[in-house]
Amino acid sequence: MTEPVTAPGAEPEPVSEPAPPPGCPVHPDAAPLYGPRFQTDPGGVYRELREAHGPVAPVELAGGVPAWLVIGYRELQLVTSQPKVFGRDSSRWHLWPSIPADWPLKPMMAPVPSLLYTEGAEHQRRSAAVTDALAAVDPYELRKFCEDIADRLIDAFAGRGEAELVAEYAHQLPLLALCRMFGLGEDDTPLLIRALLAMLDGGADAQAGAQQLLDVMLSLVRRRRERPTVDLTSRLLEHPAGLTDEEVMRDLRVLLIAGHQTTAYWISNALRLMLTDERFAASLSGGRRSVAQALGEALWEDTPTQIFAGRWATRDTQLGGQRIAKGDMVLLGFAGANTDPTVRQEDGRPAEGNRAHLSFSAGEHGCPFPAREAAEVIAGTAIEVLLDRLPDLRLAVTESALVWRPSAWVRALVALPVAFTPGYVAD
Ligand code: HEM
Repeated sequence: MTEPVTAPGAEPEPVSEPAPPPGCPVHPDAAPLYGPRFQTDPGGVYRELREAHGPVAPVELAGGVPAWLVIGYRELQLVTSQPKVFGRDSSRWHLWPSIPADWPLKPMMAPVPSLLYTEGAEHQRRSAAVTDALAAVDPYELRKFCEDIADRLIDAFAGRGEAELVAEYAHQLPLLALCRMFGLGEDDTPLLIRALLAMLDGGADAQAGAQQLLDVMLSLVRRRRERPTVDLTSRLLEHPAGLTDEEVMRDLRVLLIAGHQTTAYWISNALRLMLTDERFAASLSGGRRSVAQALGEALWEDTPTQIFAGRWATRDTQLGGQRIAKGDMVLLGFAGANTDPTVRQEDGRPAEGNRAHLSFSAGEHGCPFPAREAAEVIAGTAIEVLLDRLPDLRLAVTESALVWRPSAWVRALVALPVAFTPGYVAD
């Protein structure tokens, strides 16, 4: 059986609007969590939701399925810091019996035996192994191999004077970096990339892709069980938590999907900001505002994971003035919380240097700290090397021609076409 896509940032298939499943009571004022405005004006959607409902809004998912969306900063902190009230295991959802097998969001939420959906002591065991294995990644080594990967990718288009940075750069670099961290060799990497992309595209070979991805992971796990070395896979296998091969395979898959898409979107969103906002113009040629500032600002304004599913109430409770029933789905609205006026200055911006956005979530299920650090190294190196190699990088289209993916769940550019003076290409 293939395992569904469940990790943070994993994008669901495009949604159509089938009839509501029987037995799902939708709040009378629920706002649809789909439609073109999430593509064109998500900030406006959150403003209106906040005005209409306050920090916790009743929403309707594809197919007329009800949920709560937390868009208050304080309320999101409450939810993520109270795992006993807001559980992580999606099998707590009381609506599963009425959800059709082909519900488009099912792959995003159906429980699977990976670290993501475990709770309590079991989560601590799995999370300790993942966190320790990531913490042992040497940031200098990671930076070095990201520079090598970046140079190789840029070599492929530098001579052309134009490129499409989403497909040719931002999506490839984090994937290649993660493969290297896991210990996958050059031979396995192309197969894994094909399998992952087929799965995420949600087309006819999605199931086969998902299976191939697990096969590549399992084969890596078996090789390292026999002959450990110094990579992330070996460290997971050797961890005192005593993970089985199956557990390591599942958690490697979480790391791959959680790390790849989010970091790819982060790179392109920060690049877009640098290429369109004149406050960053000078830094393109080594001036005022730095790459780190653009990365920080992108997490406040265009966070890769806009909404994440989620948490499920373990008992009847209250949140932000709403009555939440046991088994209700509570969605984490990172984009909404980051734009909560209580964490913004009068001019609407967060204070300079403020890093207290919730883009990596919070609490025991939040993105592990060494994962955040690794993502920062990967994304920072990607942008720095690109600007070093192509100092007159500029958008090849007008800013208004840039298109976001039609999704409430992620903030991701469809394409980022750029032009530059054809540059030096290594032999
Ligand atoms: C090297 C890159 C990354 C890796 C390996 C990684 C890994 C992970 C893992 C393993 C989890 C699950 C934690 C748990 O359930 O205990 C997670 C959660 C998460 N990550 Fe990351 N991540 C990466 C980059 C990012 C980036 C760039 C973002 C967004 C800016 C991000 C946002 C999140 C969010 C929102 C969650 C959900 C937490 C929750 O349920 O509260 N991650 N990440």
